[in-house]
Amino acid sequence: MSVQHTRSNYAKEIWQKDKDHFVHPWSNWHTYREEGAAMTVESSEGAYVFDTEGNKYLDGIGGLWCVNIGYGREEMVEAIADQVRKLPYFSPFTDTTNTPGAELAAKIAELAPGDLNHVFYTTGGSTAIDSAFRLVQAYFGTQGLKEKRHVIGRHEAYHGSTYIAQSIGCKEMDRNEDLFDFKTDTIHHISTPDMYRCPEGLSESQYCDQLVQEFADKVAEIGADKVAAFFAEPIMGAGGVRVAPAGYHRGIWDVCQEHNILFVADEVVTAFGRLGHWFVSKEMFDVQPDIITSAKGLTSGYIPLGAMIFSSRIYDVIAENDQYFTNGFTYSGHPVACAAGLKSIEIMEREDICGHVREVGAYFREQLGSLSDLEIVGDVRGSHFMCCVEFVANKETKALFEDVDIGSLVAREAENHKLIVRPVAHLNVLSPPLTLTKEQCDFVVSTLRASIEKVQDDLRAEGVL
Ligand SMILES: Cc1ncc(COP(=O)(O)O)c(C=O)c1O
Repeated sequence: MSVQHTRSNYAKEIWQKDKDHFVHPWSNWHTYREEGAAMTVESSEGAYVFDTEGNKYLDGIGGLWCVNIGYGREEMVEAIADQVRKLPYFSPFTDTTNTPGAELAAKIAELAPGDLNHVFYTTGGSTAIDSAFRLVQAYFGTQGLKEKRHVIGRHEAYHGSTYIAQSIGCKEMDRNEDLFDFKTDTIHHISTPDMYRCPEGLSESQYCDQLVQEFADKVAEIGADKVAAFFAEPIMGAGGVRVAPAGYHRGIWDVCQEHNILFVADEVVTAFGRLGHWFVSKEMFDVQPDIITSAKGLTSGYIPLGAMIFSSRIYDVIAENDQYFTNGFTYSGHPVACAAGLKSIEIMEREDICGHVREVGAYFREQLGSLSDLEIVGDVRGSHFMCCVEFVANKETKALFEDVDIGSLVAREAENHKLIVRPVAHLNVLSPPLTLTKEQCDFVVSTLRASIEKVQDDLRAEGVL
């Protein structure tokens, strides 16, 4: 029996087990039951992953915006194994702690902007958002402001998939009210800021003013004494890498200051180097958040971990009151996850990965921009290693394709050329490992170009274009 034959049988067996038993996030069970997984990833190295058939792909999505230091880091393996040997787990509740948990919290506090000195560990990004929602309530509740419980998010934001995170986020595609209930009594939304779809006739600064005014109006409508917090990603990620007009975050932050409203920056994607900084709120958007939520790149995805990082002001106000913050998880501050976080940060510091992203990520973004000349590329946007390509049926009107799953068509073509990009409706999202070289950036851009051209040719042949 040839090796290839053995591998194929093995691949088939895994594929079958998955199809029969592994239920995936955001999967369509109707199609999955018939088609199963399109790819079974088995191993990895650097910026590459390998499937069960032995195919090697450049991972253009960094796992899922998270494998920041790249795959196959022996040092991570050692750090994780050492911690498992020493202490795989112990309760973090009430008054016991563990060494990596304490060390990592101090390190995060050192890297976070301003007085964000306190770290509440979670199991991922969604639970960090849930914890922030509860912290905001506790902060005002402890001051006797029980009415101040409303929060404002944005349409098309993505903050995770727990009940509260799904309710604060508001991706139209996911808002299926026939299947799910969303919390709407204290959660409100304002418009998606999106420079590509800036209303005709408005300059960037006029558009910014309009959006900030919309926020101020929403606060007035709910009542400033009732609005507790604003939740926002610095650049919207899963909602389509939407970039707000310059000054937007600062403008909203100013309104928050005026009305004692907390600013929660969801940096689950943007933190830990993706845009060339540990955190971007202050560095790139001139905003000092009260709370930052983080996950993903915190451990480079090697082990799940999330964190809600918040200010001394919030901590001190709540600490004044002799009450318990009754929120937390068995795996809050999991020692193995924290050891992974510490090692990932150590590697990033030693290799100056943020500096690398500021240089090579900027190159990546610039090169990707060259795809704009293609007929169906309406927009290339994002920053550094957080980018997307938006496909349109008509560049002039920005009209989308109606019956063509264009994002998937291009992604599938790219896969044929050993590049993984993430199709999200009419977009291809790119968030590669931060260690990408310029040559690898060039491979991504040229492969995408060839893939888009092939899809354009096919669409032309079918009379769609
Ligand atoms: C901005 C943002 N917030 C929160 C989350 C949820 O994180 P998790 O999937 O770890 O719960 C995500 C996940 O993609 C995200 O992009």
